[in-house]
Amino acid sequence: MARLVVVSNRIADPRKTAAGGLAVALAEVLNNTGGMWFGWSGKILEQPGESDGDVKLQQAGAVKLATIDLTREDHDAYYLGYSNGVLWPVFHYRLDLADFDAGYIAGYRRVNQLFARKLAPLLKDDDIIWVQDYHLIPLAAELRALGCNQRIGFFLHIPLPPPLILAAIPGHDWLIRALFAYDLAGFQSKADHSHFSEYVRSEAHAQDLGEGRWRAFNRTLQAGAYPIGIDVEEFVGLTEAPEGREMYERMKREYSRRKLLVGVDRLDYSKGLPHRMRAFRELLARNPETHNSATLIQIASPSREDVSAYSDILHELESLCGSINGNFGELDWMPVRYMHRTVARARLPGLYRASRVALVTPLRDGMNLVAKEFIAAQDPENPGVLVLSRFAGAAEQLREALLVNPYDTEGTASAIHLALQMPLEERKTRHQALMKTIQKYDVHWWCASFLDTLAQARSEESGTPWL
Ligand code: ADP
Ligand code: G6P
Repeated sequence: MARLVVVSNRIADPRKTAAGGLAVALAEVLNNTGGMWFGWSGKILEQPGESDGDVKLQQAGAVKLATIDLTREDHDAYYLGYSNGVLWPVFHYRLDLADFDAGYIAGYRRVNQLFARKLAPLLKDDDIIWVQDYHLIPLAAELRALGCNQRIGFFLHIPLPPPLILAAIPGHDWLIRALFAYDLAGFQSKADHSHFSEYVRSEAHAQDLGEGRWRAFNRTLQAGAYPIGIDVEEFVGLTEAPEGREMYERMKREYSRRKLLVGVDRLDYSKGLPHRMRAFRELLARNPETHNSATLIQIASPSREDVSAYSDILHELESLCGSINGNFGELDWMPVRYMHRTVARARLPGLYRASRVALVTPLRDGMNLVAKEFIAAQDPENPGVLVLSRFAGAAEQLREALLVNPYDTEGTASAIHLALQMPLEERKTRHQALMKTIQKYDVHWWCASFLDTLAQARSEESGTPWL
């Protein structure tokens, strides 16, 4: 059987905790399939000109981890600059936060070339290569330029915006052209996939071959939607494991007189945390019976703190939490418990299960795995309610959640109120339907359906270095 080689910027030891959907999902996939995971070590070299060091190889269970270091200059231009200062905000529809510094793209290209140069010698002819996310869009083109003819697939974990938004990126046509070096490009939702189709039809004048196949730049590319899922069985197992149970009992004891609401996110402006807090404040202002009877636990893990938009959101969130507690709190009741940290993965299921409501209200999100984890952790006989943004990719699948527009403070507050009061029978009916969906479309389905399509998809030409 062909070996699976996954390539992503962020990699994680599959045996340890990670915050971020990509690393969590791929750790689960690779634990099952085995193979190699190639990416950045997380280490930054302060001396210039050091990026050409050796690949570090390490066996982690069934997975071989292969990592490279980055110089400060490369890291800042490629990771902070182009990936997280241009692509992340624009792909999340936030043109106002994009920093189109002309110098970043050279660093982005340089690191993609470095990845290709270091990865190519490790590859076998029949490897299946699966490149992940916006950091590495041109990687296949760089590999092809080095003569790699293997099947290469690409999956975008974040949203793809409509062509008019994408076109704000200087060099957007270069990025999309680079996608045609892959044999298969996967997106999280039907909406993202249709934005891609609109773009290649109108901007790249690609020929529509039907069934998601496109011809352009002398290549044929298959594209489709492959919504990512979680490992439901593993998560249910964690819920029932001693640490999961202990956390659940502890939370139940601590909040025995109160209904718990929970939010778990990376601290990212796309997650809509200030909007969420304003909706919670509105709930408290409009519904005095919630005072002393509802507590929101918000856990926000530190993320990309060297990008200024991230420190701005941190201050805004802290100030909102402080003012809610200041205005509504009592001597024996804090409405919001906010923690700026990553929680051990084994403790999350107990926290989710003890919560009556989950607030998953991003302004824009590729999928959102927290929504699915919350569903998996519930007690089917007394489940909690998911309040979910209609702008999360997950909303295309999780129709039985309470869908909200996070920009609408009053509407979101009403939905949270409804969730807190929802009768048991309705909670059970909704939860059953949601559980069925996440079980059917779990992480193994995601992986198998993408890789099965990749095994069939083959561009008619290969090895064309056109970048
Ligand atoms: P993103 O990939 O944008 O971070 P997702 O919701 O898709 O968003 O995935 C986040 C993953 O990281 C989930 O598996 C979640 O459990 C984990 N995670 C997020 N925030 C935290 C946190 N504060 N502590 C522990 N795990 C977290
Ligand atoms: C999202 C992205 C991933 C990224 C993760 C954590 O899930 O899609 O590519 O790894 O956020 O962000 P970080 O910048 O810490 O890798």
